[in-house]
Amino acid sequence: MTDQAPAAYAGPKRILSGIQASGSLHLGNYLGALKRFVAVQNADTFVFVADLHAITVWQDPAQLAAQTREIAAAYLASGLDPKLATIFPQSAVPQHTELAWIFNCVARLGWLDRMTQFKEKSGKHKERSSVGLYTYPVLQAADILLYKATHVPVGEDQKQHLELTRDIAQKFNNDFNVPGFFPITEPVIEGPATRVMSLRDGAAKMSKSDPSDQSRINLLDDADAIASKIRKARTDPEPLPETLDGLAERPEAGNLVGVYAALADLTKAEVIAQFGGKGFGVFKPALADLAVQRLAPITAEMRRLMADPAEIDGVLKAGAEKARDIAAPVVAETRKLVGLLQL
Ligand code: AMP
Ligand code: TRP
Repeated sequence: MTDQAPAAYAGPKRILSGIQASGSLHLGNYLGALKRFVAVQNADTFVFVADLHAITVWQDPAQLAAQTREIAAAYLASGLDPKLATIFPQSAVPQHTELAWIFNCVARLGWLDRMTQFKEKSGKHKERSSVGLYTYPVLQAADILLYKATHVPVGEDQKQHLELTRDIAQKFNNDFNVPGFFPITEPVIEGPATRVMSLRDGAAKMSKSDPSDQSRINLLDDADAIASKIRKARTDPEPLPETLDGLAERPEAGNLVGVYAALADLTKAEVIAQFGGKGFGVFKPALADLAVQRLAPITAEMRRLMADPAEIDGVLKAGAEKARDIAAPVVAETRKLVGLLQL
């Protein structure tokens, strides 16, 4: 290390991420998150279901458990290996909320006021949003720093929350004079599909909350629905360009090329090398075939698992025990640093 290098956390690489338990997963979640978790998983990977984040907006209590299991099923069906990755529901590890409270006292109001996701989700009626929705990114920082995670794979929309996590770690380490206690976590936002766009509008993100089901491919869609949604996806009339630059002003075309690339494990340039000059009459059927080929086995396995809640719960319970064992000493040490009474 040179003299100029910042005091960075020097421990081993620990990967962590989570997905909210708030309704059906879509292709954006798969390509921006799930598929990438599987690609980077090692023996020190933590992947959880963010059920406490889900309840920052209303969730039907009769549905929440099923939603939680659905995300867990998607983790397993996508290829996360419970022998490597620790898979658990966030709420089963009470240390998440304990650390979140301490971080609520570290984070500044001004930092949270800048969070664009809160502005989007609260819309015109900020005063009617839950306090939890406002402080959501602080809980996210606790999720990450509780395990001293060093690398967090997420989609592009989470970038600002990860910057806040770094700010909280830095301020905690400074305030309590413990350099390197919490790592300055690296966001991992890589690949051709970190922001998958709506199939109906190249300017809008593919999202669970889009009222049009045609805008997204759900992980539980069958092959016919996938093919039909891709066939009807909005595009311009031009053939695909011969070079990547030619996609610059063509958001819908660029999105489909990115989706193809991510599904095929290619770069966008490689997809253009293959399909440049060809029209959507050729490209869309190829994309539909590829999407079905990649997603159908995941959908089938998700359905199998969701029909067997006991198997999912077994994985989640074992994961929660492992997670608590790691979380408990970190919170104990944090409490000591803050000066809370140890009894
Ligand atoms: P959420 O469904 O909001 O809990 O998101 C779970 C994960 O999927 C996060 O890592 C998001 O960044 C990612 N994600 C959500 N929507 C998209 C999208 N349209 N494109 C790429 N990644 C996404
Ligand atoms: N906020 C994330 C999302 O909506 C989910 C999440 C919660 C998360 N805690 C996390 C992601 C910690 C990464 C790390 O997608």
